[in-house]
Amino acid sequence: MKDLTPQKSDLDPIEIASRDEIAALQLERMKWSLRHAYDNVAMYRQRFDAAGVHPDDLKDLSDIAKFPFTYKTDLRDHYPFGLFAVPRAQIVRIHASSGTTGKPTVVGYTANDISNWADLVARCLRASGVRPGDIVHNAYGYGLFTGGLGAHYGIERLGATVIPMSGGQTARQVTLIEDFRPQAIMVTPSYMLNILEEFHRQGRDPRACSLQTAIFGAEPWTNAMRLEIERAFDMHAVDIYGLSEIMGPGVANECVESKDGLHIWEDHFYPEVIDPETGEPVAEGEEGELVFTTLTKEGLPMIRYRTRDLTRLLPGTARTMRRMEKITGRSDDMIILRGVNVFPTQIEEQVLATGGVAAHFQIELYRAGHMDAMRVLVEAVPSAANEASKAAAERMLTKRIKDLVGVSCEVIVFDPGKVERSEGKAKRVVDKRPRD
Ligand code: DLL
Repeated sequence: MKDLTPQKSDLDPIEIASRDEIAALQLERMKWSLRHAYDNVAMYRQRFDAAGVHPDDLKDLSDIAKFPFTYKTDLRDHYPFGLFAVPRAQIVRIHASSGTTGKPTVVGYTANDISNWADLVARCLRASGVRPGDIVHNAYGYGLFTGGLGAHYGIERLGATVIPMSGGQTARQVTLIEDFRPQAIMVTPSYMLNILEEFHRQGRDPRACSLQTAIFGAEPWTNAMRLEIERAFDMHAVDIYGLSEIMGPGVANECVESKDGLHIWEDHFYPEVIDPETGEPVAEGEEGELVFTTLTKEGLPMIRYRTRDLTRLLPGTARTMRRMEKITGRSDDMIILRGVNVFPTQIEEQVLATGGVAAHFQIELYRAGHMDAMRVLVEAVPSAANEASKAAAERMLTKRIKDLVGVSCEVIVFDPGKVERSEGKAKRVVDKRPRD
């Protein structure tokens, strides 16, 4: 793999500023953001008043803990535009979640918000080893989802060439990668597996393609998956994190030279990690739920937004800005099976460590008598698609999950191509338990 470490002189100075400088900027911006939310959004004014806190009470960054949390339900309750902090006419773009459960969550951006977003995605791209003049194949979905357009504007801002491919049409994805020879790809890791398979189907060697770096996000993925895809394509794979409520892709990104967790762009977002049960901050470096306060957002300021994502905060390395560890999962994705907590990422690690099976997988939850039960659906790689190898892989994966994750489950190894493929965010868990 090519060394893609960026030059220090290409970084935004704040990325490598001293902690004191970063904290001073954060405090100034946090005061502005609290004031902006309080003065312009009725919900924040009511919440702050009810909690007996006022933006003037923030003297130090740690004082943010005195302010009330904001939840996804707040966006739904004020659907569609009730939390905007500027007149609607100053909102230049709207995005929204798919809204599979209830009303979609709607987010809005001013022209400055869009510009900051482009700057931050450009910063992510640089950290990932992309340079001005490179070609970036963007396979995040375009539309109301923030992935496609969020990445798009950042690629242009960096001065790279964007291929606005969006998701789907997998055969065409491979053709364009072969023909346009991009240096970088932005896509969900689960869809990249699908693209990898298409390379093989077309008889092309993925290691010979032009890609040097991949920027994977929008869903949890493991270091085991990183190794799998890096080997398959002979390219780097780095993690990009974000969520629509806070901005979209580009809240945090790994550095290609260290790949040791994601640096949070702390000049725009203030992170906290709390105990999801009590809401209290956890001790430094402990795992808990990530909470963000936006520091510069005009259209939709978010004060102490509960992401439901579970991670730990770590000190800076390749940048002075703090890191978040790769997301383990979401508190609402966690499967509690007969008292044991299981995350899909733990199953992913075991699938990837088992010989003879491909990396596509799905988890089915069902009811066996009065007990909840779990079934892991995987498929054989073409070279191990005979009955004896499939049975051996089933035994091996069942044992690994029992020994290393701590739950008994059934494993079914299907023939190649039988497990549902992702074209964006993968659907890892299918819940077939009766609703009672
Ligand atoms: O998924 C924004 C995004 C697009 C990020 C493209 C990265 C790349 P939402 O649809 O609002 O926004 O979903 C946000 O996705 O709270 C996490 O649970 C999950 N997520 C996003 N990035 C990662 C990641 C976009 N790198 C939700 N690792 C978040 C793990 C991620 N989970």
